[in-house]
Amino acid sequence: MTPARIVVVGTGYVGLTTGACLASLGHYVTCVDVDRAKVSRLAAGRVDILEPGLADLVTRGLAAGRLRFVVGAREAVRAAEGVFLCVPTPMGAGGSADLRAVEAVTAEIGDVLPAGCALITKSTVPVGTSKRIQEMLGRADVPVVSNPEFLREGTAVADFLGPDRIVVGSDDRAAARWVGELYAELDAPVVVADAASAELVKYAANCYLALKLSYVNSIAELCERLGADIDLVTEGMGHDRRIGRTFLKPGPGWGGSCLPKDTSALVKVAESVNYDFRMLTSAIDENIAQRDRIVAKIAGAVGGTLAGARIGVLGLAFKAGTNDLRDSPALAVSSVLCALGAELVAYDPAVDGEIDGMTVVDDAYQVAKDADAVVVLTEWAEFKDLDWAAMAELMEGIDVVDTRNLLDPRAIVDAGLSWQGVGRPRVS
Ligand code: UGA
Repeated sequence: MTPARIVVVGTGYVGLTTGACLASLGHYVTCVDVDRAKVSRLAAGRVDILEPGLADLVTRGLAAGRLRFVVGAREAVRAAEGVFLCVPTPMGAGGSADLRAVEAVTAEIGDVLPAGCALITKSTVPVGTSKRIQEMLGRADVPVVSNPEFLREGTAVADFLGPDRIVVGSDDRAAARWVGELYAELDAPVVVADAASAELVKYAANCYLALKLSYVNSIAELCERLGADIDLVTEGMGHDRRIGRTFLKPGPGWGGSCLPKDTSALVKVAESVNYDFRMLTSAIDENIAQRDRIVAKIAGAVGGTLAGARIGVLGLAFKAGTNDLRDSPALAVSSVLCALGAELVAYDPAVDGEIDGMTVVDDAYQVAKDADAVVVLTEWAEFKDLDWAAMAELMEGIDVVDTRNLLDPRAIVDAGLSWQGVGRPRVS
């Protein structure tokens, strides 16, 4: 298709990825943010987010003249053919999504959008938001289109440029199809839908992933009680194409800035239409239970009582490949350990600074020093390559609790330590 003039409002990981990737597809993209200092940094090619490939795309977009960064959405949108809203929609009061940022931008730009310009929601917004924005706009000449993103943190650029599908939804189907064509360069199926269906796809997908993980964590618990091995069970399940091989790894619970927020929001949406989404509430409850089982496992490793125990924590981010701590299961587990009186020393290759209730160090071996137990909470590959014999030397106790089933149990045992994972037999 011919390159389009696009404005992206919000330069968080979704907005910046969207802007930089659309520019790499040949479009002319203006990214807008209210944070003046951030805009200056980005205009100079400096990217603060840890996202592989993103800084490179930003530099190339700037050099090609297809990407620019500005403050002030009102000015930026005057010549746009499409405006993407990529502003935060955090969990608001009572678990519903907080739409204040989306509404504020709509109010700011509503009267200056050119006729025919599509206003596109990329942020995850509750079903009905497109309709609400259309009403707020009060303009029949500006179609509102939902185009949810399915980007994972840490692989956002690769996910954007190699998507499983593109979803576009609007009650103005021609406008939806136009947004779909922005991605014509990418070899992906385009699902064209009404606005409500497109909005629901995002929640339905994220909540399904959360259900899948809670299910796997429950099966892992059964494995422990029945003497089975979750790795073998999920391998056996995953070959079934109806189930698939991914998203089957047990862990300390699911977290991050999306799954917890979106599961709560969908429960609320369901409540608003008098549907008690019990399956999803159970998945949320199960996630808390998983955290508590992990805490109990760690307590068991230090002789039953956490008060005064020194625990070495490896990993704080919600998953490997990111420095994002939002709704991190590692922090959730740590805060319960801390509340129960444990003394925590933590290391994460992507996190520094102070965190309440623990000492954050900048070297994995310091975590082991005098530790009664060492716990892996984020699956950073580099933890596998630690010199575990040296770790053992430094430790007081011998237990390694690997909540991500990341380490090679044999290497741990050869170092004179004892390994326990999740849903797998203990090795000592
Ligand atoms: C998630 C979705 O995967 C994306 O498709 C979606 O676009 C994004 O939310 C969003 O709504 O913006 P993300 O939050 O980056 O992406 O993280 P995931 O990779 O999905 O991981 C979520 C949680 O599940 C993490 O805590 C992770 O450690 C956990 N997880 C994931 C497991 O415990 N086991 C697995 O096998 C996979």
